[in-house]
Formats: sequence, C-alpha cells, structure tokens
Amino acid sequence: MTNNTFANQTAIITGAGVGIGYAIANALVRQGANVLLNDFDPDLARQAADFINQAQTGSSGSSARCVSCPGDASDVTFVEQMVDMAVKTFGSVDIGIANAGITIFGDIFTTTPDAFQTIVNLNLRGSFFLAQAAARQMREQKKGGSVLFMSSVVGHQAHPGLPVYSMTKAGLEMLARQLVIDFSPLGITVNAIAPGATLTERTLDDPTYIPIWSRITPMGRPATVDDIANAALFLVSPASRHITGQSLIVDGGWTSVGVPPVP
Ligand SMILES: NC(=O)c1ccc[n+]([C@@H]2O[C@H](COP(=O)([O-])OP(=O)(O)OC[C@H]3O[C@@H](n4cnc5c(N)ncnc54)[C@H](O)[C@@H]3O)[C@@H](O)[C@H]2O)c1
Repeated sequence: MTNNTFANQTAIITGAGVGIGYAIANALVRQGANVLLNDFDPDLARQAADFINQAQTGSSGSSARCVSCPGDASDVTFVEQMVDMAVKTFGSVDIGIANAGITIFGDIFTTTPDAFQTIVNLNLRGSFFLAQAAARQMREQKKGGSVLFMSSVVGHQAHPGLPVYSMTKAGLEMLARQLVIDFSPLGITVNAIAPGATLTERTLDDPTYIPIWSRITPMGRPATVDDIANAALFLVSPASRHITGQSLIVDGGWTSVGVPPVP
C-alpha cells in the first residue's frame, strides 16, 4: 500500500478515540483517506482527531484529514446522522468500520438483563445499523465500498466470563457472511477482524496483561494496535477487493494452540 492508497475515499470509524480504532483512523489518514472519527467521549474524539491532523500536517503533502463526530455508536439515529455528516463534510462514504465494542465480564449466572442489553446494543445493533447506513450511501454512489466489523478471538473460542460478548462477536462474523448476499452485487466487500489480546490504553492498566499474554501467545507477545490496524487497512483496501464474507484472526497464533489465559 502506498501513501495515497485511500486518496479520495472517506471512512467512518466508531469508538476510535483511543485503542485499535484510533490506530486504524490514524493509518487511514496517513494513506490518504478522509476519516470521520467517532467516540462516545466528545473530548477524546476531538483530541484524537486533533492529534491525527497535527501529525498529518507537513508530513506527506496529502490533504486528507480527520473530523471528530462524538456520539453513541449504538444509537441508530445517531449512526444515520454520522453517515449524513460524512457525506456533507467529505462528499462520500466509501469505508464503514464498526469498531466500537464493549466488554462486561460476568458468567451466565451473574449477567443482568441490563448488561446483556448494553453489550448487544453496541456490539451487534450499532454494528448492524452502521453497515446498513453506510451501504445505503454506497449503493447511491454506485462505486462499491467496504464494511469491516471488529470481532474478537472469543467469537471463535470460549473465554471465562464473556458469554454475551463472545456471542456478539461470533454474531458479527456470521453477519459478514450473510451480508455478502446483499452487498456483493453492489461491489461492496464485508469482512471481520478478530483480534486476540491487544495492548491498548485500557489493557495497559493491568500489570499482569503483558506477562500473561507473552507467555501464552505463540508469537511471544500480545498484539499492538498497529498489528490490528495493518490487517484492517488490508481488508478495506483495493488489494482485498475479491475478499468478502471473511474473518481474519490476528492473535499471534493463540487460537491455534488454545492455551487458556488462566495460569
Ligand atoms: N483490546 C483488545 O484486546 C481487543 C481484543 C479483541 C477485540 N477487541 C475489539 O476491538 C474493538 C476496539 O477495542 P479497544 O480495546 O481498542 O477499544 P476500547 O474498549 O479501548 O474503547 C475504544 C473507544 O470506544 C469508545 N466507546 C465506548 N462505547 C462507545 C459507544 N457506545 N459509542 C462510541 N464510542 C464508544 C470509548 O469511549 C473508547 O474511547 C472493540 O470492538 C473490541 O471488542 C479488542
């Protein structure tokens, strides 16, 4: 991929104030895309867009930029407004990345209906309706596009305390396969990424995270956000235009050997 792989393209990415989403937004702008960066936290969203634009200024000479769009990615009305804002600001929507996701730990006996609803609303409902709103816009534009869901290795392999989260992630991967039927005739690809343990601002708070995941990950370390962003950029780039309905696991080999994270 070159510095202008995504020139004249617009991406929407949810939950991108920090972590994996931020890394994807940053990489997309570096490679020429305009990005509408969403986060629930307005300060974080603005700060993230500012950082990305400041680093971009004077680097490649590209005019690509990032605009923040704070709001709740599980709110369907807001999701539709995000698509409208991307079109008003940049003229199109070519890439929709449903990255925002929430994890609430609890086993089947302790999970409350509220926790269940919160997880399903963001991970499944928000992702489903972002795909719908972005693809409706792409259908009008008549030049294809790509949709990417953020799954997880726990959509493939059971993990203690995550019955609802893992169910939503497995659901997203089936949704990617299902949407091939509606999206392929429009030239829109739809895929999922399933990250394994990934170092983010959130996981860095846990002092046991790096030692545990370094020990049980065959590649000897947890993923960085750039490991995930590199895979994401491939799946929304022209290089993968014949890849659709797929899930790409990025976990340093963890699910191949299946060692549980408990000592
Ligand atoms: N970090 C990991 O190890 C890991 C592993 C597998 C999968 N994932 C998935 O990758 C995605 C990103 O994970 P992360 O760890 O980088 O993110 P994170 O949990 O650190 O959150 C990123 C941002 O999402 C925002 N957010 C939360 N709820 C939101 C909402 N309703 N609307 C809009 N924004 C919201 C938060 O404010 C935060 O800034 C998620 O879908 C997650 O399930 C992460």
